[in-house]
Amino acid sequence: MTPPAPRLPEFPWDTLADQAARARRHEGGLVDLSVGTPVDPVPAVVREALASVADQPGYPATHGTPALREATVAALARRFGVTGLAADAVLPTIGSKELVAWLPTLLGVRPGQVVAIPELAYPTYEVGARLVGAEVVRLAVGEAPPEGTALVWLNSPSNPTGRVLSRDALVAAVEAARRVGAVVASDECYLSLGWEVEPVSVLHPSVSGGRLDGLLAVHSLSKSSNLAGYRAGFVTGDPSLVAGLLHVRKHAGMIVPRPVQAAMTAALADDEHVAAQKALYAARRDRLRPALEAAGFKVDHSEAGLYLWTTRGEDAWETVGWFAERGILVAPGTFYGPGGGQHVRVALTASDERVAAAVERLR
Ligand SMILES: Cc1ncc(COP(=O)(O)O)c(C=O)c1O
Repeated sequence: MTPPAPRLPEFPWDTLADQAARARRHEGGLVDLSVGTPVDPVPAVVREALASVADQPGYPATHGTPALREATVAALARRFGVTGLAADAVLPTIGSKELVAWLPTLLGVRPGQVVAIPELAYPTYEVGARLVGAEVVRLAVGEAPPEGTALVWLNSPSNPTGRVLSRDALVAAVEAARRVGAVVASDECYLSLGWEVEPVSVLHPSVSGGRLDGLLAVHSLSKSSNLAGYRAGFVTGDPSLVAGLLHVRKHAGMIVPRPVQAAMTAALADDEHVAAQKALYAARRDRLRPALEAAGFKVDHSEAGLYLWTTRGEDAWETVGWFAERGILVAPGTFYGPGGGQHVRVALTASDERVAAAVERLR
């Protein structure tokens, strides 16, 4: 028997410990721009909803409450123009990371089949593939998946690059996946954070052509509603795929706690806090980006999402060290794939005060 742990790489963030210690020694304290973890308060409307269902001795439904599923369908229609979704085809997840890590397992991807991921990608796509013994292939934008591909991950806006796939690029990616019979899982956790362009969902009729077969969209409330601490996400799309996921998750006890279901329902019903949070990130981005450029960095892509993908043409770890010397922690691009060797990822998720400190130190 081979336990899965040996098939997994070292946890990337553990390798940042020395640089974090170095950055922490700065007299003005650490500015942590390495992890995209929200720092602003959980919206009051969401906290109230959570507290309102504290007395819940019974098991919650794996499928979520009907109110949660309906609020999800309504939010996707209102916020992103996604139409034609049935409420039954919504499945809440315990944050989206667990779904990302377990999706190949839940879909029944077999050892030796291919899981295609973006050239520069959130590391958990690869982790999920490794957990089932699948082969990982990294695809550049526009590159078609090879025969034998069971699952294609898309991520627009991208973590780490902030790159947004155009409608045409999404259509082409869906067609290419369908040609080899692969499921498309589109990780859309940054969809509400478009700065220079408006990102499009894979479920938008202009992309799906009104056909949901083989399509899944993975969403998270962590960033849009500051709910990373609650663990709140969902997957939706092809009703038969979602039914299959629900079946396994019911058996496996992968259930979102009932108070969190209520919190998600409230968050999905309210767009005001999403807009307010987006404005906070926009203001931080407007300060950090010129400060980086004035310090000699080039910012690539980054037209949406929570990160600035930046380089000054040297090894990523050297750049991480340069920032750490100034008390700023950033993530090396190598966390996201070999193609990230000369970039670092700078998160917008710090308080206004910490962002101001970073800007000052970059001067
Ligand atoms: C691309 C991407 N997908 C999924 C996640 C997981 O988010 P969560 O588990 O908080 O929903 C993250 C978190 O940073 C991410 O960047």
